Amino acid sequence: MTIRTLLHDRVRAAMSAAGIPDECSPAIALSNREGFGDFQANGAMASAKRMGRPPREIAQAIVDNLDLDGVADKVEIAGPGFINIHLNAEFLARAVEIQAREIALDKRPNPDPQTIVVDYSSPNLAKEMHVGHLRSTIIGDALVRVLTHLGHNVVRQNHMGDWGTQFGMLIAELEEHLGEGEKPEMALKDLETFYQQAKKHFDQDAAFADKARAYVVKLQAGDGHCRALWQQFIDISIAHSEEIYRLLNVTLRHGDIRPESAYNDDLQRVVDELKAAGLAVEDQGALVVFLDELADRNGNPSPVIVQKSGGGFLYATTDLAALRYRANVIKADRVLYFIDARQSLHMQQVFTVAKKAAFVPETLSLEHHPFGTMMGEDGKPFKTRSGGTVKLADLLVEAIERANRIIAEKDPELSDDERREVARKVGIGAIKYADLSKTRTNDYVFNWDAMLSFEGNTAPYLQYAYTRIRSIFRRAGVSPEAVSSRIILDEPREKALAMKLLQFDDVLEQVAADAYPHVLCNYLYDLASAFMTFYEHCPILREGVDGQTRNSRLHLARVAEETLARGLGLLGIEVMERM
Ligand code: ARG
Repeated sequence: MTIRTLLHDRVRAAMSAAGIPDECSPAIALSNREGFGDFQANGAMASAKRMGRPPREIAQAIVDNLDLDGVADKVEIAGPGFINIHLNAEFLARAVEIQAREIALDKRPNPDPQTIVVDYSSPNLAKEMHVGHLRSTIIGDALVRVLTHLGHNVVRQNHMGDWGTQFGMLIAELEEHLGEGEKPEMALKDLETFYQQAKKHFDQDAAFADKARAYVVKLQAGDGHCRALWQQFIDISIAHSEEIYRLLNVTLRHGDIRPESAYNDDLQRVVDELKAAGLAVEDQGALVVFLDELADRNGNPSPVIVQKSGGGFLYATTDLAALRYRANVIKADRVLYFIDARQSLHMQQVFTVAKKAAFVPETLSLEHHPFGTMMGEDGKPFKTRSGGTVKLADLLVEAIERANRIIAEKDPELSDDERREVARKVGIGAIKYADLSKTRTNDYVFNWDAMLSFEGNTAPYLQYAYTRIRSIFRRAGVSPEAVSSRIILDEPREKALAMKLLQFDDVLEQVAADAYPHVLCNYLYDLASAFMTFYEHCPILREGVDGQTRNSRLHLARVAEETLARGLGLLGIEVMERM
């Protein structure tokens, strides 16, 4: 239980005892001014208004009934009825020690775990992964890590696009390459070039185009030859993506792939059931669900096509089938989608149809967590100099190279192997953190110098802060794991650091609920600053510091170090001993 929750519960109990209606909230907040306690309970004012009584009188009634024995030293009423709570140092110290034990667990015990499906990355396999796939992949992965750490049962779903008309063209092209004796790995070495070739072929050669169209139909009908060509293409394309996941330190594995084709057999059923329920109606030969819920400004219902006039199914049909699977087979309590904001209408349509058709229980929480676009310095979507799409693989390699040059300059002592390892962690960490630390829903400008800077709210800054704490332990000649003396919070900076550490769980709960990883980034940045301030004012290894104080401070440093490492780890960012 976090301190905030504990205070909430205790104050709420006091409110009940004072006869304040249940709807009134204690409104627990961190104090942001020195001298006003550590937390405030601000609920007295609203309660008083509701009850038509003087606010200070209500505040007094709450305080009179408030039991914070062993938790707070002092509770006082300020201003119009704020209740300032000064926490007890001994209580805080023990709380830090308890938290340290929980942080160490990869998966904490959770008395009320949820099954949470996270749909992320989900690239189309016709082409190689490009920068447009970065955000979904790393934001989704951060959420997966946070939810897992909080003890939920997380099911990753990589809804890869491996089905659809393009594949007819691609397998017809592949067939020709193989016919010329080329090995599939060679033909598909560069998927981007291969796609361009196939497209050109398709546009210029009518016979090829016919064959491509015929192959789509055959493929979907389960023809063995087409299926085998398709499988070869898909396997190689997936291998490209998995290479990226490995390089990016993303937790998606082969078993997490449940691609569009997996739902093929259910699509007709989805459409039939929508028809039987009177939801899908014929419109110009196609089957369409018209949603009044999502009508436009002029009152025209929003059309969701679920089957084309030629009989083909659509992106939405597949998403409906996927949702049924997630609700009824996986038995999800929440389904989180990390997809570009441009697909917001599509997601709203899918969610609305699924609920109307009772494909999913009413209680299932369906959440599209959209994000903005990654922009170049020119303020337009990020492109290569010549205006092409940037391959994700190239971007990651460049990040590591740039980090390598910076590290070589900063620490020439590192061996080649060590430097390469550090450069990988710093380069990849910088790209991820630059993205995760921005408010998800906004666009942001991609800037190498800013993300690789050792100053400011960046991955290198936090990784460096971590190495500095490690170096304290090296100089002390003890391993952090061996430090377990009692924490004593005598100095204000010690207490401030403890308070910061104890916000970690609230932050994780918030990220788990709202899926905004920048909240965790900002927290880690504040934590690193709180540590630096603590370390400046509260020497650890300096001569004259008594043994008990030194050990207590080492213990605080240990918890700070572990919190930083855990926090970065939950963002998918690695730390290192030195850099
Ligand atoms: N493959 C899609 C694309 O690249 C993203 C899929 C997202 N997930 C989903 N269930 N629709 O745009």
